[in-house]
Amino acid sequence: MGKGFYVSKAVALFLLVTAVAALATIIALSVVYSQERAKTLEDPASTSTARPSTTTESTPSTPKEPWHLYRLPDSLSPSTYNVSLHPRLTPNEDSGLYIFTGQSSVEFTCLKETDLILIHSNKLNLTLFDGFHAKLTGLNGAVAPTMKNTFLEVPTQYLVIQLNAPLKAGSTYRLDTEFVGELADDLGGFYRSEYVEDGVKKVVATTQMQPTDARKAFPCFDEPAMKAVFHMTLIHPVGTVALSNGMNYESISVTVDGESLLETSFEPTKIMSTYLLAFIVSEFANISSTPDAKVLIRIWAREKAIKEGQGDYALNKTGPILAFLENYYNSTYPLSKSDQIALPDFGAGAMENWGLITYRETSLLYDPAVSSNGDLEWVATVISHELAHMWFGNLVTMKWWNDLWLNEGFATYVSYLGADLAEPDWNMKDLIVLNEITGVMGVDALASSHPLSSKEEDIQRPEQIGELFDAITYSKGAAVLRMLSHFITEEVFSEGLHTYLDEFQYNTTGYRDLWNHLQMAVDKNGVSLPGTLEDVMNRWILQMGFPVVTINTASGEISQNHFLLNPDSVVDRPSEFDYQWFVHVTWIKNGGAEQKYWLTEKQATNPDVILGTNDWLVANIDMEGFYRVNYDLPNWERLIKKLDSTPQDIPVINRAQIIDDAFNLARARIIDTTLALRTTKFLNKEVEYMPWETATRNLDFFYLMFDRSEVYGPMQAYIRKQVEPLFDYFKNLTLNWTQIPKRHTDQYNQVNAISMACSTGVEGCKELVTGWFKEWMDNPTNNKIVPNLKSTVYCNAIASGGQKEWDFAWTMFQTTTVASEAEKLRRALACTTQPWLLNRYLQYCLDPNKIRKQDASSTIVAIANSPIGQPLAWDFIRANWDRISNYGAGAFSFGSLINGVSKRFYSEFDYKQLRQFKEDNEAQLDWVATSVDQALEKTRANINWVEKNKEDILKWFEAEASSPA
Ligand SMILES: *[C@@H]1O[C@H](CO)[C@@H](O)[C@H](O)[C@H]1NC(C)=O
Ligand SMILES: *[C@@H]1O[C@H](CO)[C@@H](O)[C@H](O)[C@H]1NC(C)=O
Ligand SMILES: *[C@@H]1O[C@H](CO)[C@@H](O)[C@H](O)[C@H]1NC(C)=O
Ligand SMILES: [Zn+2]
Repeated sequence: MGKGFYVSKAVALFLLVTAVAALATIIALSVVYSQERAKTLEDPASTSTARPSTTTESTPSTPKEPWHLYRLPDSLSPSTYNVSLHPRLTPNEDSGLYIFTGQSSVEFTCLKETDLILIHSNKLNLTLFDGFHAKLTGLNGAVAPTMKNTFLEVPTQYLVIQLNAPLKAGSTYRLDTEFVGELADDLGGFYRSEYVEDGVKKVVATTQMQPTDARKAFPCFDEPAMKAVFHMTLIHPVGTVALSNGMNYESISVTVDGESLLETSFEPTKIMSTYLLAFIVSEFANISSTPDAKVLIRIWAREKAIKEGQGDYALNKTGPILAFLENYYNSTYPLSKSDQIALPDFGAGAMENWGLITYRETSLLYDPAVSSNGDLEWVATVISHELAHMWFGNLVTMKWWNDLWLNEGFATYVSYLGADLAEPDWNMKDLIVLNEITGVMGVDALASSHPLSSKEEDIQRPEQIGELFDAITYSKGAAVLRMLSHFITEEVFSEGLHTYLDEFQYNTTGYRDLWNHLQMAVDKNGVSLPGTLEDVMNRWILQMGFPVVTINTASGEISQNHFLLNPDSVVDRPSEFDYQWFVHVTWIKNGGAEQKYWLTEKQATNPDVILGTNDWLVANIDMEGFYRVNYDLPNWERLIKKLDSTPQDIPVINRAQIIDDAFNLARARIIDTTLALRTTKFLNKEVEYMPWETATRNLDFFYLMFDRSEVYGPMQAYIRKQVEPLFDYFKNLTLNWTQIPKRHTDQYNQVNAISMACSTGVEGCKELVTGWFKEWMDNPTNNKIVPNLKSTVYCNAIASGGQKEWDFAWTMFQTTTVASEAEKLRRALACTTQPWLLNRYLQYCLDPNKIRKQDASSTIVAIANSPIGQPLAWDFIRANWDRISNYGAGAFSFGSLINGVSKRFYSEFDYKQLRQFKEDNEAQLDWVATSVDQALEKTRANINWVEKNKEDILKWFEAEASSPA
């Protein structure tokens, strides 16, 4: 799924282009991972006081019965479900609640004799048959034992059925249930989404099952390895359309309680996991591929959005991406159709339900007149990510959630290949470095990080599963697979994938199965590795973190060390590999051909890296390896000289990498901070996006720490000096801002140029953007602001304006029919510098009629992003913690909330406040304990960093600011 990952990435993307006081978002140096899954809130009883990462089950009393365990026993195996659901799209007259009713029957085989049936069921009110919650029937001559007792075990979310005699191994049975559930607006299970069209409120019944909410829609064996065939039926009002994983058969008319309704059945699914189910009832419209297409592709959305053509881009790109993936995996898409649907309320970014992919509107819809190139890139990568799952995740599924990274890392990596196919001019294969890799290196360099692959026994409870949807799983997973694919070559990689998918289709796997198949491809093609593929790769997936490789170009010594952003942190997580890796070291000497070397020891010597006095060397070409590089000081000096004279001799990704490595090494106190700052001096001659973007992200940390101190003035002066030429470059390139740059990355960098120029006071910038905004205010129905520039223009204009500008933007936010436009406005509203407007806006975050629940946390984080908003947001969260934590499951991303409000913390006072917050909310904070601990760790590191570096940095900026340009 595009889970928390996508939400936090959307936040990051936005922040890139809007920050006023802070230049851009901080990814590399902050923890952008997030535990989106607030689902744990639904059921406080299911959270115990134990920390999520502990190994043993920790219900207060020692578990005695099978239903006290979170994992299903291996005695039963489902084969077929028949499920019929009837969602009510108007509230129940008695209770005022929206509900659904349903019937389900599941056929299963008994594998081991047992007198106990455990089946997941959560928040369902089960009807009683003869005093029991279910009815058991023997099939094919088997005799069903009678039931002794049935009850619901709430903490572990089971329907428990105790029998008077055992089920026989090898026999098959059917279990029938009838139930009522709430169609709540909680973004989980079978839930309700609402929107207004032409003044009329419309209700959509839709689903989000991953990871553990299928059990909230009907009783089921809700684990990924419990694959089965599903026969779905939906009963729904006339005038609505019903969709599910399989193709719909023609609807028939039925009457329920005197009401004429439609009943739609669907072709049976393939053998699949419960978390991939989807069923939706809506009044949506669709556009579809031509009837002769091999696979029917349909894009569904609000009628207006479809009429306006917002689904066209998705429709045009889905076919080619699907065809590319079939070719890449060498495996045919097994379904007859691919529906993709954009939902007004959706917790994640998207979800790869097999045959019926669900999206947030901003992840699927695109309006060229309104949306930016970043929005478009987002749509292309999310579609590509979800389609990649059709094989990795859906056809072949991880056995258990501990290997979620196999699904998500893969989909994330492959999404860049798919997006590159869809948009060959975008450099997507380069942009993965900025979008995924440098950011997650910031997270993985913390002592509180975790390995990609967890132990099965450590991942038991729903909230432990939910915590895995983080940046490590998605982005490090992608980075490690990209590295692997590079060193065994893309062709060998895809060959191994093919045989793997072939062997395990409709089945489940662990990472070893993938290694085995890649090993076969490696052997067949004679690729040489310093050990088995497993030897190499296990070091990257079974231990957290990554190395810094130090190259001494005088002695030829190459060594590796576990890289920790905070050198004072203590690593208490043991590693069987002792925090050493097999590192594929690549380098270019004096602009020559790429050279390669396997570093398998802690330290080795290679004469090839020894340099003469005028030589230079840059390593980790195109950042293909997941590691950082340090050099002896003379080589650093020569690299800086090279950047200042002929930067184009160094590949563009490496120009970005040098900056990123230098700033991170400085954070880790391995090199001087002023050396890192010197890697930004060539930027006054640089016009490429990747180096600039990397610099702004790294300098953002300086803004977070110093924008309330005396460092601020000289720092602004230096950056103004650096960005002026870039601003002029784009002014010229765009013929005085009348044209749009042709290249995708230039479009991004134009935004950087304007955003930084305005925030550092480059002459003419503020006038330019406020002028554009004023033109719009004067003529609200005709917004002529270039879509790419909207975020930064809105933000700057609102920041320098007052209530008039804010209220105008608020009105536009409420009336726009384009989700991405609403998104830009919603975030720009946080840019105001007026405390009372910010406080009012914070209040709106707890009013779902003003700010949708799904957007509440990212709005608060946006407010916390400025020096004025941060203390207000922090006070707000503390004052309203009870309301926030009971606001509705799925509404708040607590991880990103805590990360968001704490990223400016740099004093002992801040640290104490955060610790106080943790103590005050200890009991409730269980499921965000990791986030709070990480925030504490980061604050401690910030305190140390500011103390050690402030003086030198101030002096450096002062000297640079006063030196001639
Ligand atoms: C699934 O894979 C296992 C090996 O991991 C194999 O024993 C089993 O037969 C496979 N099942 C199917 C249905 O292919
Ligand atoms: C402006 O752009 C033109 C090409 O469009 C180029 O020839 C010229 O050198 C540029 N001037 C500056 C000052 O960058
Ligand atoms: C841009 O505007 C300036 C005056 O503001 C003018 O001198 C220059 O020729 C214009 N350039 C283009 C390419 O229109
Ligand atoms: Zn995914």
